[in-house]
Amino acid sequence: MTEVAVVPDVAKAAAELFVEATAGAVAARGRASVALTGGSTAAPLHAELQKWTVPWDRLEIFFTDERAVPPDHPLSNYRIAEVQILGRARPERIHRLRGEAKDLDAEATRAAADLRATLGTPPRLDLVLLGLGPDGHILSLFAGVPGSADRGDDALVRHVAAPEHVEPKVPRLTLTPFMVVTARTVVLQVSGAKKSQVLARALKGAEDLVACPAQWLRRASGRVVVVADAEAASAL
Ligand code: 6PG
Repeated sequence: MTEVAVVPDVAKAAAELFVEATAGAVAARGRASVALTGGSTAAPLHAELQKWTVPWDRLEIFFTDERAVPPDHPLSNYRIAEVQILGRARPERIHRLRGEAKDLDAEATRAAADLRATLGTPPRLDLVLLGLGPDGHILSLFAGVPGSADRGDDALVRHVAAPEHVEPKVPRLTLTPFMVVTARTVVLQVSGAKKSQVLARALKGAEDLVACPAQWLRRASGRVVVVADAEAASAL
């Protein structure tokens, strides 16, 4: 069951959920596994998180997806997190997707093995943070790409091309839908009127996982919270 929270401050509400999910995981299992996202929602959330009590040294930090660039590149999702929050975490618990790898298929296989080695088999994340792309994508599961409808239970991490409509036009590494549908908590952050129609399609539209990969949220077995501002929620 997807919860929708319409809030004035999306980053603040997401930070509260981050604290709740990670504290709960640490209390239950001694650590919390989190997948950080890129996109426009990442930096405001990371800024907000610095004001909260977060069990930084107990976090296993993964990434939802990454662009095929080095970690110091302006397009790197890792870099967005590095500049604000990663210094607070334990370096050996930061599980970067190596966007600079020459062989991105091999890197996807390595990252999947790391997920299993760290979290067990099958790996289950405590918290997955997501943004919603204008074409209805989550992770790097882009609309119109047939592979976006594949749950990816065995793969866990994939190398995908950026289709014509997606910017920046660089290949990506992405978690597969399996990591979203099995996560204990998923938080989707959505802001602005330009996301209102695609959010409505994701939550209420006719199901078509290729046309709107964000509809994978409907298959999630854990808690799903959509944190939206009033503009983004206006078509719900
Ligand atoms: C990325 C993200 C991606 C993002 C959406 C939404 O690498 O771009 O991880 O999945 O969350 O594209 O991005 P915006 O919030 O910038 O629209």
